[in-house]
Amino acid sequence: MLLLRPQLPLCLTLLLIDATSAENLASRAVEHVHRVATHHTKGLARDLRVAFGAVVLGKRQSQQQAPLGLSNRVVYCKANGTVSAGSNVGSGSGSNSDGTQSGNDGGSGTATGSAAQPSGTSTGAVSTPWKLAESHSGNDFFDGWSFFTASDPTNGIVDYVDENTGRNHNLLEVNSDGNVIMRVDTTQNIGNNNRESVRITTNSHYDQGMFILDAVHMPTGCGSWPAWWTNGPNWPAGGEIDIIEGVNDYTNNQATIHTNPGCTITSDKSNLLGITGNVIGGTNCAAAETNNQGCGIRSSSSVSYGAAFNGNGGGVYAMTLNSTGVAIYFFPRGSVPKDIDAGTPLPALWGQPMAMWGASGCDPSKFFSQQSMIFDTTFCGDWAGGVWGASGIPGQESSCATRTGFSTCEDYVRQNGNAFNEAYWEVKSVKVYTHS
Ligand SMILES: *[C@@H]1O[C@H](CO)[C@@H](O)[C@H](O)[C@H]1NC(C)=O
Ligand SMILES: *[C@@H]1O[C@H](CO)[C@@H](O)[C@H](O)[C@H]1NC(C)=O
Repeated sequence: MLLLRPQLPLCLTLLLIDATSAENLASRAVEHVHRVATHHTKGLARDLRVAFGAVVLGKRQSQQQAPLGLSNRVVYCKANGTVSAGSNVGSGSGSNSDGTQSGNDGGSGTATGSAAQPSGTSTGAVSTPWKLAESHSGNDFFDGWSFFTASDPTNGIVDYVDENTGRNHNLLEVNSDGNVIMRVDTTQNIGNNNRESVRITTNSHYDQGMFILDAVHMPTGCGSWPAWWTNGPNWPAGGEIDIIEGVNDYTNNQATIHTNPGCTITSDKSNLLGITGNVIGGTNCAAAETNNQGCGIRSSSSVSYGAAFNGNGGGVYAMTLNSTGVAIYFFPRGSVPKDIDAGTPLPALWGQPMAMWGASGCDPSKFFSQQSMIFDTTFCGDWAGGVWGASGIPGQESSCATRTGFSTCEDYVRQNGNAFNEAYWEVKSVKVYTHS
């Protein structure tokens, strides 16, 4: 029924750490990116050469050593969406959030965040103008998604499988809690092959909306690179909003947007922006003007990503895209607003967002359109592989090379399937609300 065009998303991410050893890794990754990108599109390869050349040259020319951990993330993306509206409109289930009650939100950061949650009501239902447009959970979760099966645009050593293969190979499942599992192949030694995984994209798309993920568990561990994001057509014209993303043993989420020229964050100060996260790179979000770095914001919550997120029972991420801008909220398990669980989400009750790109710097109607949601888990590639030897990011106090004893990400991933038992998504629900 759905007329699907093969997608051509190319998201090439690279972290350049200001340290000699990491620089070598980065250079190696750059060369690899060039080779692979050439197979994808000539135009992109040209952009990569120019942009990466500038970045790497810049690093090499300056012999100055900056502190470890200050990194510049360079991301190249090009996604071509598909398109036929999804029909999975209806009611969702499984939104009763209990989980662990530790509520250990390490994320107060600079914000004073009065997370004014509705209290004193058992349902948390409030009056909201947001209406449920799409919901995925349980046995019907995968209705309305397409399985991406091309080679990984980010150069991971991954084979994305179709739905049937995923089910037959035990990568897809609904567990006894009614939650959806998307896991990766854990065969111990896969020789020179790639490791199987899943990448899915919604058939529907939205110019504006509220996207809410309730997850109990997310992929983590050295070699892993998972993400949940949205993407419009004709990258970067349609815009890209990375809601959850990170690599290896990171514990703090990084959210990033990538756009056409003209979109900026109005400050790099969290207090001025009214966010709990921290701007980690530049404030210009334009791909073409920033070596495609985009403008990233790292959560100050140490349970917002990876093993720490999982240890806390996961939580809820919400992204709103409307005329006021793009905002991302994170609620650790135990601190999820009742209005969200009740299906009557009202951002006014949520306190400060973790990240926000306001309309005064970035008019959403100009820079974002037709956003589809995407989940994936890849291995190594431009980011997880590129920073294999690097340390200093929260959660990565020592490098994966040190922790695993393997000098390359690829060898580790290919020879240690058991290490990827934690590299799975466990999702209670994904919901999209639109404004009436
Ligand atoms: C994206 O797909 C559309 C529809 O097939 C096509 O017209 C357009 O040229 C594509 N854009 C890019 C950048 O590939
Ligand atoms: C737009 O998004 C912001 C940020 O999440 C939210 O506070 C606001 O209520 C939304 N606006 C409308 C009209 O829904």
